[in-house]
Amino acid sequence: MKKFDVIAIGELNVDLILNNIDGQPEIGKEKFAKDMIMTLGSSTAIFAANTASLGTKTAFVGMIGKDNFGKLVKDSLKAKGVDTSLLIETDKGATGATIVLNYNEDRANVTYQGTMDMMSFADIDKAVFDETKHIHISSVFMQSGIKRDLIDILKFAQSKGVTTSLDTQWDPVEAWDFDYAKILPLVSVFMPNEKELLFITRSANLEEAINKIKPYINLCVIKRGNQGSLLVAGDGTSHNKEAFLNTNVVDAIGAGDSFNAGFINQFVQGKAAAECQAFGNLTGAINTTAAGGTGAFISKENIVKTAKEVFGQTILL
Ligand SMILES: Nc1ncnc2c1ncn2[C@@H]1O[C@H](COP(=O)(O)OP(=O)(O)OP(=O)(O)O)[C@@H](O)[C@H]1O
Ligand SMILES: [Mg+2]
Repeated sequence: MKKFDVIAIGELNVDLILNNIDGQPEIGKEKFAKDMIMTLGSSTAIFAANTASLGTKTAFVGMIGKDNFGKLVKDSLKAKGVDTSLLIETDKGATGATIVLNYNEDRANVTYQGTMDMMSFADIDKAVFDETKHIHISSVFMQSGIKRDLIDILKFAQSKGVTTSLDTQWDPVEAWDFDYAKILPLVSVFMPNEKELLFITRSANLEEAINKIKPYINLCVIKRGNQGSLLVAGDGTSHNKEAFLNTNVVDAIGAGDSFNAGFINQFVQGKAAAECQAFGNLTGAINTTAAGGTGAFISKENIVKTAKEVFGQTILL
């Protein structure tokens, strides 16, 4: 028996969200925002919070500063049922923050990466690889240390019999420097969204992208927003799964992370790929029924109820 089902390796930061802003920001002037929320940010944190809510034993490996933002991050993860004993607290930098200027449908974000950009494989206690069944790595383009060491981390996990999943997420500098031919053979489940996959493979369409990654993947699931997801197996066979229809979307913030959480929740239980995909589609859809990435995942009871009442699905957690 392993102590954890999943260890998430990823970025951690605080989100400072400003709502109801009087117009666009202008250099040399000052504007009021009528509402402010300070909360746990980071897409990997949404993943970890939601796997924990689904009943998966989840720990987080990430770097925070010894500061107030670091404390907020740690307390928030703990409150969501994520084991925080593996967090790395450093005095070499500050916990990062994203300032979100929220204008209804659109947002302007500015991120200070801080400690998320400082963590590398050398900072991670190698003993943690003996304590988990699975490692999920996310947001590599936001963490230069993890990106640089990605192949070493994946090889080490493989040598320990630990399965892995990878969601690169968006590349903020849009260089898309990702050696998929070397990396993907080491990844058990590759989980990009469609747009990211096209950029990573420098492809004009999905068919071209799939043909390029096919020789290298073990299993790949491509997220396609309200179109659902496409599963591609190592032998090249693919399986499309339509999204669960939500006629009343609150927002889709974190839908991809919630999809990942559902997929991996099933994967670590040894479920077949198609079942993992179907459950990912369901948790992605559940995500859209409440505000933010974790609002719909406050408890097992709440998840089960939403699955039944909104999507007509009976699930056991
Ligand atoms: N409007 C929606 N209605 C129903 N299901 C949805 C909707 N949006 C997303 N989903 C489900 O959630 C999954 C993941 O969403 P999406 O494709 O937006 O991921 P992503 O682009 O990685 O998102 P993120 O911005 O969170 O990283 C989809 O594959 C789909 O199954
Ligand atoms: Mg995503």
